[in-house]
Parts: sequence; C-alpha cells; structure tokens
Amino acid sequence: MMKSIFNFCSLTVIICGVLLMNCTNLENSNKEKKPTTQTKEILGNSFGIIPEPVSIKLTNQGQFSFEKGIDILINEELTSEIIYLQKTLSSEFQISSNLVLKSSNNNSIQIQITDELPAENHTINCNKTEILIEAGSPTSAFTAIQTIRQILSIKSAHSELPMISSFFIEDSPKFKWRGMLLDVCRHYFPKNTVMKYIDLLAFYKMNTLHWHITEDQAWRIAIDAYPKLTEIGAWREDPLAENGELYGGYYSKEDIREIVKYASERHIQIVPEIEMPGHSSAAVAAYPELGCNGEQISVPNDWGVFKDIYCPTEYTFEFLETVLGEVMELFPSNYVHIGGDEAPKTRWEESEFCKKLMKKEGLSDYEELQSFFINRMAEYLKENGKTIIGWDEILNDELTESAIIQSWRGMDGGKKAVSEGRQAIMSPTSHCYLDYSLKTIDTEKIYGFNPIPPDCSTQEAARILGAECNMWTEHVPDEKTLDSKVFPRLIAASESFWGTNDDYEGFLERLDAHYNYLDIRGVMFGSETVAVSVETNTNREGITVQITENLRNPETTYSFDSKGGFQDGDHFEGEIINVPQNSESKLLISSGVKSSANQEEISISFNHHSWLAAHVEYSVPFSDYYTAGGTDGLTDGVLGSLDFRDGHWQGFFGDDVELIIENPNENKKISSVSMNFYRYINSWIFPPESVSIAISQDGATYTELDTQLYAENEMHVRGKEIITSYFNFEPADAKYLKVIIKNIGKVPHWHEASSEPAWVFLDEVVVK
Ligand code: ACM
Repeated sequence: MMKSIFNFCSLTVIICGVLLMNCTNLENSNKEKKPTTQTKEILGNSFGIIPEPVSIKLTNQGQFSFEKGIDILINEELTSEIIYLQKTLSSEFQISSNLVLKSSNNNSIQIQITDELPAENHTINCNKTEILIEAGSPTSAFTAIQTIRQILSIKSAHSELPMISSFFIEDSPKFKWRGMLLDVCRHYFPKNTVMKYIDLLAFYKMNTLHWHITEDQAWRIAIDAYPKLTEIGAWREDPLAENGELYGGYYSKEDIREIVKYASERHIQIVPEIEMPGHSSAAVAAYPELGCNGEQISVPNDWGVFKDIYCPTEYTFEFLETVLGEVMELFPSNYVHIGGDEAPKTRWEESEFCKKLMKKEGLSDYEELQSFFINRMAEYLKENGKTIIGWDEILNDELTESAIIQSWRGMDGGKKAVSEGRQAIMSPTSHCYLDYSLKTIDTEKIYGFNPIPPDCSTQEAARILGAECNMWTEHVPDEKTLDSKVFPRLIAASESFWGTNDDYEGFLERLDAHYNYLDIRGVMFGSETVAVSVETNTNREGITVQITENLRNPETTYSFDSKGGFQDGDHFEGEIINVPQNSESKLLISSGVKSSANQEEISISFNHHSWLAAHVEYSVPFSDYYTAGGTDGLTDGVLGSLDFRDGHWQGFFGDDVELIIENPNENKKISSVSMNFYRYINSWIFPPESVSIAISQDGATYTELDTQLYAENEMHVRGKEIITSYFNFEPADAKYLKVIIKNIGKVPHWHEASSEPAWVFLDEVVVK
C-alpha cells in the first residue's frame, strides 16, 4: 500500500531562487476570526504581550488607570521617546497626558535611563499610581513603551477600559538583530505600506528593516547622479496590463528621508540593500555600460536569476561608489547590504576584459573575481564608516574580515562565518522565508526557530547577531497578499528572535488577543497553518483519501467532480473517502475557520488507471526533495498539480532516468501510455530531450514502441505548465514497460543558469 501525506493552502504560483529551488506559494488571505479573548485570559497570560517578556509578575497593588489622563515626567535624555509616547497615547487610545517636571496628583509615567542595567534591558514597575520604566538605553526604554502600547492596544481592541493591574516586568532580547527583509522591487509597495510595516515591526519589538531596493526587476531609489536608474530602471513591462502601461514606481529622496525619520522615531534601523554584482539587470537596462557586453537589455518582467550582471570595470566601480555615496547620505545605519547572491558568471566568462583583469590581479577563477568586486566595495564602505552585510555566497577566503554574513542557504554559511571569527545573521530558507507557503513554513515552525545552530561554541554563538525573516515579493502583488504572508508568522518570529519562545500553546493564546488589534490596524493577516492535511492511500483496489483539519475551530466540506458526476460530503475527522474509479476525478475541499467567509479551496486530481500501484524500478534515484511520495509515487493515481512542491512530482537533477514498471494485471495487453512533465525553466525545470517507451514479456528483451522528442523551442517557454507525452499504439502484450527519459543534462547556454544541471519533473505514468 502506498501512502502520501500533503498539506494544502491553495494551489497557486511559485517562484524559485535558483540554487535552492527557493519556492513560494501564495496562500489565500484566509482571515481567521478569532474568538474575542476575555480580560481574565489576557491578564492571566502576560497581558497578551508578544514577544513574551523574560519575566512578568502581577504585584497585587491595585490597578493603574489611564481614564482621567496622566502625567508624563519630562526627561531630556528621552525627548523623542516621550513625545512618541504622548502622541501614541493620544492618537491611538485618546488618552490625554501632560508633560510635567514633577508629578501632581495624577497617575504618572516616569522613564529613566540607568547605568545599572545593560543597554538592552529594562524594567517596568506598574502600581496603582505610577508606571516607572528604568532602561539601559533609549532603545530599551522605547521597547518598554511598546509593552505599554501593546497592553493598551489589546485592551482597546477588546473594548476594555484602559486600566492595568499592577505588575513588574524585567525584559531584554536574546538577539540584538531582529529583522525583516522587505523586497519592494519584484512588486512595488507605496511609502505608506513601508511605514505601516515599520510601525508593526516596532510594535513587535523587532529593530531592523532590511530594505531590498534594487533588483533585476526594478531600481527603486532615486539617485541624482544617475537619473535613468529610476526613469528606466523602476519600470517594467506588465504582462497583465491591457493598454501597454508599465508597472513600477520608486521612492524619491524626500520619501526616503520621511521613511527613515519615521523608522528612527521607532528605533528601527533601515539597512538598505544595493544588490551587486548580480540581480542588477534594472541598472544595466538603464546604463548598458554597466554590463560586460554593453548591449541594451530591458528591465526583466519575469522571475528568476539573470545573466546581465555588473562588469567589474572602473566605470561600474565609479557608478557604485557614487550610488553608495548618495545611499549613505540617506540612511544613517552603520550597515549597507551589498547582496552578493545568485550572480551567474556567464557574462564575465565571455568577457576579454574580465580575463585580463583576472590575470592582472592574479585571480584564479570567477568566484575570486566576485570577491575582488565585493572587497573593493567593502573597502569603499569601510572608508565611509560602514560595515557590509552580504548573502552567504560572498563567504570565501578572500573576503574582507569585517563583512557580516547573512546565511540563507541553510545555517551552514552563518556557522562557517562565525567559526572564522566573523559575525552572522541567520535567515535560513528552512525557517525564515515568509514568501514560502505555510505548507513549508508555518507559524509553529518559525516559533521554534533558534538562530544558533546546535553545535556552536559559546564564542561562536556570541557572533550570531540574530535573525531576519525574508519577504520576497515575486508573487506578492498587493498589500493584502503581503499581509497574509507576513502575519501571523512574523509575530511568531518576534518571539523566537526575542528568545522567549518556549511555549507555543501559550503563544497562541496571546496571539488570539492580537487578532482584533491587527484587524483594526488594517492588517489582512493569513492563517497560522495550512487548513487541512490530506493523506492518500493507493492499492490495487483503488484510492482513498483522509482529511485532517489543522485550523482551530475548523469547518471543512468536500465534493468530487468527476466523469461519474458529483459526490458531496461534509467532512468529519477520520472519514475514509473513496475516490471514484475513473480516469478524471477532482476532489474539491473547502476549509476554513467556522463561520469565516474566507475558505481555502483545494483541489486534487486523480486518475484511476489500470496500472495503479504498479511496481517501479529506477535506474537512478530521484531527488530527496521531490519524491512524489516514494518509489510508488508515479503509479499512485494522484496527479501532480501546477504547484511543483505539492509532493506529487518526482525530480531528477541532471540525470537521465530509466523506469521499469511491472504490469500488475492478469490481462497483459496495453494500448496507451502517457505521463506528465512539469515545465518551469525559470527554476531550471525543463522538458526532457526525449521520452522512449519499450515493452517486454521477460524483463530481458525489450521492443521499442516509440520515441518522442521535445523540440528546441519547447525549451525556451517560460512560466509554469504541465505538459503531457502521449503514446498510443496497437494493443500489445506487456509484462514490463520501460520508460527512458533523457534529461537535457545541463541548462542551455542561453539561460541565466547556463551549465548548471537541469531538472526533469515527472508525475503519474498512466498505462491503459
Ligand atoms: C536569496 O534568497 N536569494 C538571498
């Protein structure tokens, strides 16, 4: 019996960063309406504060009331924070306050900086008449203000009085770097959206917005010396536009100053990312002299990794130094992120200039040329008092010591960096990619994330600054989708980066108290996890399905749309559902939180063909990542969908594959064979070069029936598609069927990932 389990959000679109098949699904914005949490529960569970404070004690000294207005004691060390507090109390909670030198009879808030606490620590002592905040720095004082803001926000979202039971909090974050990357290039998000996110980051006590503002698909920051960067580079053809309008936008210097000021009032540092040498097509489109061949290209309107990267010429270095000069004027952060990931070397390899440069500089390969490039920029930034951060691809022996590594291809890059004495920020695709579907990374998984790998020494661990969640936006066209991908997962990340993430059930209870607030803030949050997991079982008798509901307070229905007509059912937990026994059946599942208008729609296609559950032998193993459920995955009757991560596709990386399938039937005659392939060349998934089938009665001598070739032009089609090879022939006896699939081997020379291994993705082999 073969079994496969897969989770669903919805079947949608995907993007892949090349190396890791860095994929994304869009979930529906499935807003779960949470039951209103009662005061008692909020009070009983850290007031609902997220991230949970290190220590919180109720002190039974009465209730502090904001109802009649309060005094805030003036403190010249904290003018900005006190003004922020006063404005926030007034605008968000209609609480009036007076700034006073000495408290009158009113309840008061007093904030003091003390050198008795480390910079990152604070305490809050709230009794009936006074809230006293003592902090090691203005930043930790600001964090304490967010604690008060959270308590009041949750209360007001639940229509409760602004009264707080007395408590004492001691708090400090475990990690000093707690960030989120926002990619505003693949899709543009207006200034107000960026500011909404900055405020939400502050609310959840994160401290870094990593702002990804240059990419292949757009250059979004105005640069005076190079106006074409935004005149040309900020706009791409929009395949969805009916009247040929371009898609895009950019931030003027004035916008950026406003955003930076807004962030700095909230103790959020903005780290700008100016990608180099790769992911730079938009700049090359604006100034073709930046590329190695000087050819005019257009701003890509597709996803993937592109070959037209900066050429390491003096023209490019002068350009980048000028750009970075203007960037540094705008962003006060000590750090500039220079990217460094996914830079195909095709153009450098074609360039006589690069060959000469490598000879002159004694560089033995193109990776060393990349280090030469990065080091030169790092040097320039260092002279200007900035430290560079780069993705883990930049890590090698030549790299300047001061560079901070952001580890994304797992944790190994970061681990290697800290073992060599560098600093690292952890953003592994396994836990920190908010563009990934909930199937891969759900709220609980992020909650459990520990930025310190298990076998790090204490000294190494101390060099791990913290972590970031990455929000790449290839498939995030609007704020609704953005919100639904970021929330609630970012809230879980805030607790794991704070280091108090040791009680997921308790976290969920506190999270419940936040949903009303998020609603009021206009955050169109998504689900905590996939709505249902579906387990299929296939044997010679047929295919069955079992649905498990994952949401809290769920409601699920299903129906089959098949040649045999409809079959409807309300799902109940544990029910075994028989799939209709014909060649085209679609199971439609609708699931969501009870009474919520937002239901996830899930569909799974089946083909109950006559070689169901046939045994398959492989000439080479399939990928560990794309298994289709195992060695029986190609005959389980469950068809791979347009989501190539749905668990039903079997992937072969660079290899040809030969399958021997044994006829499971008494009747040996067959007259047709078909199989599906997945095409998504953006992610290196190509049609095979050829597919041949042959049959045998003894498993030793085979008679070839037919070969199909995929033409060269089939290799060039971008976008996701399922393509089918059909073979129809005169009925023939077959105890064994051999399928020979020839992989094109290497990604073709014209492709951005040229000469890397090509994938073939295969699903059901249907025999009749
Ligand atoms: C990345 O996801 N390419 C850093």
